Amino acid sequence: MSNGCLVTGGAGFIGCALSRPLAERFDRVVALDNLQPQVHAQQVRPAALDPRVQLVVGDVADTAVWDSLLQDFQPQVIIHLAAETGTGQSLREATRHSRTNVLGTTQMTDALARREAIPQKIILTSSRAVYGEGRWRDQEGNFSYPGMRTHQMLAAQQWDFAGLKPTAQSSHEVNPSPANVYAATKLCQENLLTSWCGSMGTEFVKFRLQNVYGVGQSLTNPYTGIVSMFTRWAKAGKALPVYEDGAIIRDFVYIEDTVAAIMAGIDQGTNRYAYDIGTGVATTILELAQTAAAYYGAPEPVITGEFREGDVRAGWADISAARRELGWEPKISLQEGIARLCHWIDGGALE
Ligand SMILES: NC(=O)c1ccc[n+]([C@@H]2O[C@H](COP(=O)([O-])OP(=O)(O)OC[C@H]3O[C@@H](n4cnc5c(N)ncnc54)[C@H](O)[C@@H]3O)[C@@H](O)[C@H]2O)c1
Repeated sequence: MSNGCLVTGGAGFIGCALSRPLAERFDRVVALDNLQPQVHAQQVRPAALDPRVQLVVGDVADTAVWDSLLQDFQPQVIIHLAAETGTGQSLREATRHSRTNVLGTTQMTDALARREAIPQKIILTSSRAVYGEGRWRDQEGNFSYPGMRTHQMLAAQQWDFAGLKPTAQSSHEVNPSPANVYAATKLCQENLLTSWCGSMGTEFVKFRLQNVYGVGQSLTNPYTGIVSMFTRWAKAGKALPVYEDGAIIRDFVYIEDTVAAIMAGIDQGTNRYAYDIGTGVATTILELAQTAAAYYGAPEPVITGEFREGDVRAGWADISAARRELGWEPKISLQEGIARLCHWIDGGALE
């Protein structure tokens, strides 16, 4: 049997970055992707997708697509990336998000079962979003889950939960508590595949990725990350507007480090818990803005006191499990990653 790998959503940002190492690792790599117009404005095969990867244009939620694909291809490893990822959008377009993320996952497992094409391993890229606001700690060291910040808190510029400090996101210590529909569908994917793989004897490795950024990310999708937005605005000489008091925390992990973690998951990893993938460094949005502004010599960022309903105050990863079990280590600092991204943009990535 040939050594094959299927990557759903394989024409996206992470899929393209994975394509070369996968083409080197497997005899046959197939990317199944519907070239979703919000991500692929041109609706064509991305130049960054390794030429050795076969692109099948199709929708993961479509039964016929799966039946036709699996007719001549029974992959040993499936990397399930296909997803609708609009966090804010998902509250108003819940059906679109659940169709791809939830139904797309069960269509995949049903088709695999129908064809008796049970893979050896499935890898899922879940998200830090499943934690929602996560777990906080009081001065005595007691933990609690304060839930989402209310509109009243935000309107009164009460950004944090009084008397509490956030803690790092760690799947073996912090319970998921999704704060939007996208996050709920990602947690659903985790649960669906945990049970299906457990019953079918398929190994299952799941990652909860923090904010992935870097060369190759979409610079035109208005719903994609703050890093690309800030770098483009800084390049245009704009003073970057920073919400709340500037102290919203995120963990920005470079694409190459993310790819290294997923590749490590092909040969290692257990289904006991999700691997949290980030740098492990809590970075404020103000620090991110200052880093991007400094690269282009843009004016000092401006703290606006504005806010977005549903924004989580703090999220960064505890990466100890991935370090210990996958022998993985993030290598690219924020400064280095921003410099690489900016260099790429300066080289004409937007043209
Ligand atoms: N990039 C991040 O910061 C990040 C963070 C956490 C989790 N993730 C997860 O990683 C995965 C990949 O993310 P990405 O950043 O590469 O996103 P992306 O939007 O660049 O890629 C997703 C791909 O899925 C495809 N797709 C969407 N709906 C589809 C459908 N119905 N059928 C087939 N293909 C479909 C899109 O065309 C796109 O090519 C997603 O599952 C996402 O939830 C990403």
